[in-house]
Amino acid sequence: MAIREIVKVGDDCLRKTCKPIDKITTRTKILVEDMLDTMYEANGCGLAGPQVGVLRRLCVIDVGEGPIVMINPVIVKSEGEQEGAEGCLSVPGKSGNGTRPATVTATALEITGEVQVYEAEGLFARCICHELDHLDGVLYIDKVTDGLTTGE
Ligand code: NI
Repeated sequence: MAIREIVKVGDDCLRKTCKPIDKITTRTKILVEDMLDTMYEANGCGLAGPQVGVLRRLCVIDVGEGPIVMINPVIVKSEGEQEGAEGCLSVPGKSGNGTRPATVTATALEITGEVQVYEAEGLFARCICHELDHLDGVLYIDKVTDGLTTGE
């Protein structure tokens, strides 16, 4: 188990566009394991590469249905709208309401290199959108509709 330091808002790293992962190596696998450990340790439901200082297109998610690893994820379809509270491990102690699609279809590689298609709604859809935003240097605090509040 290796916990990595979570990059906090204000660090440039969170504002960069990430590059795709060309090849899944042992290093990628170690990174993914560390990211999962780090996310669980921090009680988060998602963590993206830049949040541990790695500017590559990958994230891990667990919305209570087990760990999901998304490498080079892409949202291929999104529909509807949902409003809800969001927080981020890189913005500790804050939360805010934001609008996200109600459902998203996303594709990504698993750690095995296999292509996986995800049909997501509710929290899972919100989480995918949030994590994918991280890969383009976007934070949820850029999108909150009624300001940030203190407390999760
Ligand atoms: Ni986040």
